[in-house]
This record gives sequence, structure tokens and C-alpha cells, in this order.
Amino acid sequence: MRQSSLVVIANRLPLDDSAAPDGACEWRRSPGGLASALHAILEQTPATWVGWAGGVGPAPALPDIGSLRLRPVSLTEDELRGYYEGFANSTLWPLYHDAVQQPTFDRGWWETYRTVNQRFAEAAAEVAEPGAAVWVQDYHLQLVPGMLRELRPDLLIGFFMHVPFPPPELYMQLPRRVELLRGMLGADLVGFQREQAAHNVAQLAKKLLGAVNADNTITFDGRTVRTGAFPVSIDVTEMQALATRPDVVSQSKQLRHNLGQPKRVLLSVDRLDWTKGIEHRLTAYSELLRDGFVKVRDTVMVQVAVPSRERVESYRDLRDRIEGEVGRINGEFGRVGEPAIHYLNQPFGRSQLAALYQTADVMVVTPLRDGMNLVAKEFVAAREDGSGALVLSEFAGAAAELSQAFLVNPHDVDGLKETLLRAMEADSSDLTARMTAMRRHITEHDIIAWARAYLSALDHTGRLADRLPRTAPPSRRRPPRQRSAR
Ligand code: ADP
Ligand code: F6P
Repeated sequence: MRQSSLVVIANRLPLDDSAAPDGACEWRRSPGGLASALHAILEQTPATWVGWAGGVGPAPALPDIGSLRLRPVSLTEDELRGYYEGFANSTLWPLYHDAVQQPTFDRGWWETYRTVNQRFAEAAAEVAEPGAAVWVQDYHLQLVPGMLRELRPDLLIGFFMHVPFPPPELYMQLPRRVELLRGMLGADLVGFQREQAAHNVAQLAKKLLGAVNADNTITFDGRTVRTGAFPVSIDVTEMQALATRPDVVSQSKQLRHNLGQPKRVLLSVDRLDWTKGIEHRLTAYSELLRDGFVKVRDTVMVQVAVPSRERVESYRDLRDRIEGEVGRINGEFGRVGEPAIHYLNQPFGRSQLAALYQTADVMVVTPLRDGMNLVAKEFVAAREDGSGALVLSEFAGAAAELSQAFLVNPHDVDGLKETLLRAMEADSSDLTARMTAMRRHITEHDIIAWARAYLSALDHTGRLADRLPRTAPPSRRRPPRQRSAR
């Protein structure tokens, strides 16, 4: 087994598993923030990515992608249920997102979560050179830093949490709260999207582990762990280049034509997840239609809701509710050939997404809670001419950076309606000033800057950060295909 000096571990490998059996593998953009973010920086960085290739059964043999090696980790059907659908996405995911959906505490899932985390840790230990840096990603693998430290004390271990880390009063509900905290704090550096999350962890470490905290350090059991905020970002250059490509510009014009040349296009793009606030948004829009503030003849809403975690009951239920509501709104307010809402439950390629971002007058990003929300940043990157309004939830990590957006509390439906109207009616000079400021921010804080900031904090010598490309490499842009176990 060849070894690497940089190993990244994430739940998913960023490739289309349906392409794997014939040995030909391709980069695919998973409709998810983590793969979008890491794909841009790892494609040309010598490293190994340890992750699940999707599906169940033996891990497929996968060829390298450029200088990136892939080390698949297999899951059985039971593990898929207990680890991914169960503990990760039905216990931790809802709890970490303000419990907007009731977390399930199923005692049977814990052992599976632990077993799978151990497998990931062993796979990483196998492919890591002596003294290598291993960068563990997200809540699926929260025990891995501690397990890796046991297996390979020589490694430099980083952990980054892409989702929010909850306040102590919520985290304390977790039956396995001590093990999970200890596991994560097995890393040398634990990174979060927001400073508040690091603060939450420090408080919990003091309470649960008797740790001593000072200036972004947590000391317990004779070790000191560093923490910090590193807001994740996007490949700004790629989205900008895509959005200004002539074929994408004409695709965008065609989209507007197909939508009936409305005065205004409102757009939302989400994974179909109950954290994304889609139902609140539909209620607000439907009331604007009902009260005559918005007319179907001159305004259309496009809701892209890509299928996600469809084997989990709460996700299937959400889909049923949303599709029922879209049907009700179209039935009540639509006209022949003029639906009130265009609903698209399918994955799109990057250029299609760029064309959609170009078409929108108002981008509506209103999650109830979101670690970052890269869609908001992608929209800003796509608007090179400074036009367009961004309505953004205060509860998305992105709100801390994109403060010139029309910020809104998505739980407050009246406030949401009022903000949507303000964004729709804002004058172009106001919009340009806002967009210009947001574009300046994301250009300076793109995905390379994020990785550089994290890796140079992990390894002060700067050797890790020096391996990153100066600008994000051009990515392979084949349209994504549906995966088996979403
Ligand atoms: P999350 O990580 O919760 O999925 P983010 O907004 O941070 O949320 O990231 C979503 C990512 O998935 C973005 O990069 C976005 O472009 C991508 N995405 C969203 N919807 C689709 C879709 N229908 N097809 C393809 N990619 C999508
Ligand atoms: O951003 C949170 C996250 O769980 C990522 O880890 C992942 O890329 C994304 O949401 C999509 O989720 P899933 O991998 O379950 O499809």
C-alpha cells in the first residue's frame, strides 16, 4: 500500500460510484458542501482521500485521480443504516442543527458508528506516511481523531466540523457526549465554521472533561488541543468563469425565455433537507401570492431541491410535504402554462447551476440552521456584473461574512415576506453596492484561502499549505449522476 504525507478522511469519496466498475472514474460534484469545497483543492494536491464510495458491499478498486489517491472504505447494509442513516444523520445531524427536527437516540446505532469510525481510522493509519498530516472531516467521523492518535501517535491530526456545533444545553442531550467530545479532541487542531462553535466546545470540555481553557486552547489529560474558526468557501474563480462562459450566458437567457420572460425570478437551490427551511419559504411565498403582493404573471419562483438521504424516513416525509405544498400552491395560484413555482427535484451539473444563478433576480437562501451554506457564496460568485439580490438566513454561517445580504430570520414568516418584498423592490444601485462588497469578500476568502489558513494553523512550518495550488485548478465538468444511497 502506497503511503501519503497528507491524508484526508471524509465520509464520502467525491466520485460517481456508478462509474467505478469498469475502472474508469471521474470527479463528480456531489450535491453537498463538503465535496464541493474539498474537490477544488485536492484535485491537484498529492494526497490520499479515505472515504465511502457509496452503495454497500466490498469497496471497489479505484484508480488515482491525478495526484490524488482514493482509498475506499466499505459499508455493509447494516452499517449504512446504523452509521450513516442512523447515528450520523438521525442523531447528530438534527441535534447539531438546533434540533429543528427531533433527534433520534437509538442505542443500537452507537456500536455501528464506533465500528465504522474505527475502520476509517485504520484505513487512514495504513495509508499515512510516518509523521504525516491527517485531516478528518465532519460529524460522521467524530471519533476518528482519538482513534487515530491511539493507532499512530506520530501523526499530525486535524479535524474540521462543516456543520454547526451546538450550544452545551443541546449537546448535553447526547447519550454518548463524553466519548464524542474526547474523540474529536484527539486532534491537534479542531476547526469550525464559526468562533461560537469553538466557544461551545471549550465550555463542554471544561464541564465534561475538567479541561482548562485559554485563548483557543483546551488542555486536558496532559495534552493541549487548539481550536479556531475557519469559514469554508468555494472555488470563486471556477464559478465566475462558468457564469460568464458564452454558452452558459445563452443557457441563462433561454431559461428566462422558458420561464415566460417574467419581471422577476426568485431562485432557491438546496439539498432536500429539513434544515434548509423550504417549507417556511413556501408558506411565505404562498401568502405573498394570496395577498396579491406578488403576481404569477410577472414573478416566478424556481425551487431546486436535489434528493438527499432518501432512505431516511424524515427525508421522505419532507419530500412528500414539500411536493404536496408545491402542488397546492400551483393549483391555487398558477395559470395554464404559468405555474407559480417551478420545482426541480434533480441534480444539476455545474454549468446548469451557474446558468440558474445567472437567471435569478433574487436568490432566496433561508435555512433554519446551516454550518455555512455554499449556495449563497456560489450565487455571489456568479454575479460578476454586480446585479441580483441575496436574501440570506441569519442562521447560515455565511451570514457572518455576507452581511450586505438581505438578512432574515426564516422562522419569522412575516419578516421573511417583508424581506422578500424589499429584495424584489430594491433599486439597482443599492443592489450593486451590496453585491460588490460581498464579491470582494468572497474573492479574498475563497476555498484556497480556507485550506491555506487551516493547514498553516495545523502545521506552523507552512510545508502543508505550500502544497496547495495557488489558484483552484480547472475542474472536470461532467454532469453529475444519481447515486444509489443518497
Ligand atoms: P450542504 O452542505 O448542506 O449540502 P451547501 O449549500 O453548503 O449545503 O452545499 C451544497 C452544494 O451542493 C453546493 O456546492 C451546491 O452547488 C451543490 N448543489 C446543490 N443543489 C444541487 C443540485 N441540484 N445539483 C448539483 N449540485 C447541487
Ligand atoms: O455539509 C454537511 C454534509 O453532511 C456534508 O458532509 C455532505 O457533503 C453534505 O452535507 C451532503 O450530505 P450527504 O453526504 O449525506 O449526501
